[in-house]
Amino acid sequence: MIKLMMACLILILPLQGMADSKTADKDRSAMMKYRQLFMETKGKHAKAIKLLIKHKLSLDHIVSHGEALAAMAEDMLVVFPTGSMGGKSRAMGDIWDEQGNLSQDFKKKAQAMQVEASLFVDIAKQGNYRKIKKQMVVFANKGCRSCHSDYRGE
Ligand code: HEC
Repeated sequence: MIKLMMACLILILPLQGMADSKTADKDRSAMMKYRQLFMETKGKHAKAIKLLIKHKLSLDHIVSHGEALAAMAEDMLVVFPTGSMGGKSRAMGDIWDEQGNLSQDFKKKAQAMQVEASLFVDIAKQGNYRKIKKQMVVFANKGCRSCHSDYRGE
């Protein structure tokens, strides 16, 4: 009986491992799909802000989009599970360190996005379009482009 149980265990354990890794693959690919939507949403928020500034439209909406981006900066740390790259993704391997954790520098860049987005919201609330436009340029450079140039590939 014991022998039979052992035999079963020996059979089951590798299968279990396979099921786990399959689930992990599925989770990762779902997360990568979600990440694409998440990124596109960020892009739309930024585009909306630029259009609103250009045509001096709703300040309230400029603030809302800025707040959304500030909130999404922290969420950035969740949408890059270890090794989630390849396929259509433009994510680069340097996002993770050797242990598979998000690299310090990547986290710093997500932090910069948060800082610049919050500053943007503060300035937007003051209502001066010239200053808002200026901060949007800084935000796009320090809060978006600086990460893309290091961690987003072709
Ligand atoms: C901490 C790093 C980081 C920051 C900060 C960041 N991004 Fe990204 N972004 C990425 C990476 C990495 C990808 C590629 C993800 C992928 O393809 O899996 C990406 C993809 C995108 C995409 C999708 C385009 C494409 O490649 O399909 C858009 C749009 C985008 N980002 C906009 C923004 C905007 C707007 C900001 C600033 C408000 C921003 N990002 C800030 C890392 C960042």
